[in-house]
Amino acid sequence: MHDKANAGATATVTNSQTGQSVELPILSGSMGPQVMDIRKLYSGLGVFTFDPGYMATGSCESKITFIDGDEGVLLYRGYPIQQLAEKSDFLEVSYLLLYGELPTEAQKAKFVRDVTYHTMVHEQITYFFRGFRRDAHPMAVLCGVVGAMSAFYHDSTDINDERQRMVASFRLIAKVPTLAAMAYKYSLGQPFIHPRNDLTYAENFLHMMFAVPAEEYVVSPVLSRAIDRLFILHADHEQNASTSTVRLAGSSGANPFACISAGIASLWGPAHGGANEAVLRMLEEIGSVDRIPEFIKRAKDKDDSFRLMGFGHRVYKNYDPRATVMRETCHEVLDELGIKDEPLLELAMELERIALEDEYFVDRKLYPNVDFYSGIILKAMGFPAHLFTVMFAVARTVGWIAQWNEMMNDPTQKIGRPRQLYTGAGPRDYVPVEQR
Ligand code: SDX
Repeated sequence: MHDKANAGATATVTNSQTGQSVELPILSGSMGPQVMDIRKLYSGLGVFTFDPGYMATGSCESKITFIDGDEGVLLYRGYPIQQLAEKSDFLEVSYLLLYGELPTEAQKAKFVRDVTYHTMVHEQITYFFRGFRRDAHPMAVLCGVVGAMSAFYHDSTDINDERQRMVASFRLIAKVPTLAAMAYKYSLGQPFIHPRNDLTYAENFLHMMFAVPAEEYVVSPVLSRAIDRLFILHADHEQNASTSTVRLAGSSGANPFACISAGIASLWGPAHGGANEAVLRMLEEIGSVDRIPEFIKRAKDKDDSFRLMGFGHRVYKNYDPRATVMRETCHEVLDELGIKDEPLLELAMELERIALEDEYFVDRKLYPNVDFYSGIILKAMGFPAHLFTVMFAVARTVGWIAQWNEMMNDPTQKIGRPRQLYTGAGPRDYVPVEQR
């Protein structure tokens, strides 16, 4: 599937105990590090690779998103995230991620219409919500209800049928915002607000989240633009934990609704998409600038499980380019909302300044990531903290779908089944309980 095999470069691996050697091809992509193709390693040398956390392992070939962690570069199908955030909109970026090219005017109009006319959910899905406690975390609700879509849309669960894969893709991209808003409304005890076809994707989401039947809700163009940009920034990010979860679930042939539900579950973790909510809780716990040194000290203490949420990244060893755009958007939103000296923003900026001067963070190249500022923007826009990761999931659904479709269209695709280094007990016989 890769367009560019390297011109014959190889790596020779030798087992010093047995003297056995195997020559492994080195492959080049169009950009980024080369990879050593280890598919013949076990048959040639009788050993597995060992890479917990996949720190140095490429799990697949992809043409969707490129990240250069050292340079802080993020490209969606070759387009820099900064340009897309400034000049594009979320559904156009969604088209780009799914199909590989920016749409013509006609293609975009059709795509927007097709997504818009799939935003309603089966009325019976509302019954699922009644089974949740009102104080259930909306990520728990979203995970459950998206998985339950498998029980409703039987006409788009055959993953071997390209048309059914396309229908399921549109249903997920279009309906996840509706389900997310329903999870929020349910937690408030407010009626669900139906989607509206005369609104853009971001406007519609804000409307479903904040409108009430009792009065007209006027969508703020500033907030809808900010949400649209937030969605763009969160849409895809190469083979992160939740995307890898979706790919692994999909590799067994599981239906797309179940795969996306698995992705939502993985994203929820505070080390991943749950970090935006954790950042806000951390800032609220720090409370004031004079307590920052105490928390920086804790973040550096190996005996303390506390980490500076919103800092660090497996790939970015430079500024996360999304964090930079997010910080600019944060100032714009607060200015537009007339929110002066937002204490959490002041605190975040001082925390960022101090951390970036501290050798612990500098030595480990721990910079603010996409989650560091997003919580402040969302809080200023009226989103409760437990909705922050839901926002991330709404945006990332199109990335998960694009990656899932890329895998399903790969003729070499196999079920993902990693091996292990076994360090458990050797063979032994059963001992009857009276002899133990
Ligand atoms: C997202 O993968 C993606 O692309 C994810 C994402 C996406 O768009 O899909 O970008 C979205 O998940 C962003 C990350 C959000 N998570 C957080 O902000 C949580 C806080 N960050 C850390 O948990 C951590 O930085 C990770 C999980 C993001 C990355 O962890 P790694 O790559 O496994 O790095 P590590 O844990 O091995 O840390 C390396 C060193 C360690 O110290 P030493 O053992 O070398 O002494 O840096 C330290 C860590 O203790 N460290 C931190 C830290 N992050 C790393 N110390 C304090 N605070 C932190 N935040």
